[in-house]
Amino acid sequence: MHAGENAQPCIKMQIMTIILETINLTKHYPGKLALDHLNLAVQQGEIFGYLGPNGAGKSTTIRLLLDLIRPTEGQAQILGMDTRRHSVAIKRHVGNLPAEVRLWDHLTGVQVLRYLCGLRPGCDWDYACSLAERLQLDLSTLVSDYSTGNRRKLGLIQALMHRPALLILDEPTTGLDPLVQQTFYDLMREIRNEGRTVFLSSHVLSEVETICDRVGILREGRLQAIERIANLKQVHYRWIMLRTTSPFNAADWTALPGVSDVKAVTGGIRMRVTGSLDPLFKQAAQITVQDIRIDEPGLEDIFLTYYGDQHG
Ligand SMILES: Nc1ncnc2c1ncn2[C@@H]1O[C@H](COP(=O)(O)OP(=O)(O)O)[C@@H](O)[C@H]1O
Ligand SMILES: [Mg+2]
Repeated sequence: MHAGENAQPCIKMQIMTIILETINLTKHYPGKLALDHLNLAVQQGEIFGYLGPNGAGKSTTIRLLLDLIRPTEGQAQILGMDTRRHSVAIKRHVGNLPAEVRLWDHLTGVQVLRYLCGLRPGCDWDYACSLAERLQLDLSTLVSDYSTGNRRKLGLIQALMHRPALLILDEPTTGLDPLVQQTFYDLMREIRNEGRTVFLSSHVLSEVETICDRVGILREGRLQAIERIANLKQVHYRWIMLRTTSPFNAADWTALPGVSDVKAVTGGIRMRVTGSLDPLFKQAAQITVQDIRIDEPGLEDIFLTYYGDQHG
């Protein structure tokens, strides 16, 4: 033992456990490079958002992780195991919601879940039922009669019901109505609070921002950046349009924290707001506002702003 070690007894060592890692993971389809040397590490207990527009390569990555397709180059590990050599062992610890849920049409929801529950060590039937209740899914319906959203709910329950250490979810909120989306976000937070890990793909920044700790941005098969959401939030701006007939003074709005590019437009006022909307709402409360429109910038714009601020 070194003499210095006792001098700082209060320093806590935080040991990060990597749950999912890819090393130069690459997939060429005939005539298409869908994933290009992906290097990524997801830590235990985080909700990691894998964000990118349609066609970016998100589902390809997920299929590679689950060993449903084979990489052209590179490799991946889940819980320290190679995803190709140990895919069966890995499946016990992973819950997966694919992009398209295909379950048995001639069975009811409850029959599907009972069947899958019997196959999965660690399946908790009471938990499965409570998930159905929270997601408002009627399990007595035939799968063939479920709407797309309800099919995805069933897919979600089967992914969660054995309480896996890692969840890999491909655009999980697609087709869920806003209230059910909130329930989904609550579930993800509960899973994180239990020290479990979530890897989810999305093409919606605001959603990733709501629940994720970190985000990786994928574009045309290339990982553009990995950032903590807290950092991105600092540059996350929106265009706000207030419809009002009240007179207003542009300088009063420009003076608010985070507000810029204030402009009078037909029927009201338009401005760019970075960070919290609270100062704007407090000021808007003093005039008559008929309507408000909030336009989110595209992902590209957010990142251009972020990297512009960092490097320029
Ligand atoms: N089986 C396939 N054969 C050929 N090209 C494919 C195949 N699957 C996906 N692609 C192409 O690879 C790219 C990435 O697709 P995908 O991983 O599904 O993107 P995302 O899930 O981000 O929308 C797209 O250009 C898509 O058209
Ligand atoms: Mg996809």
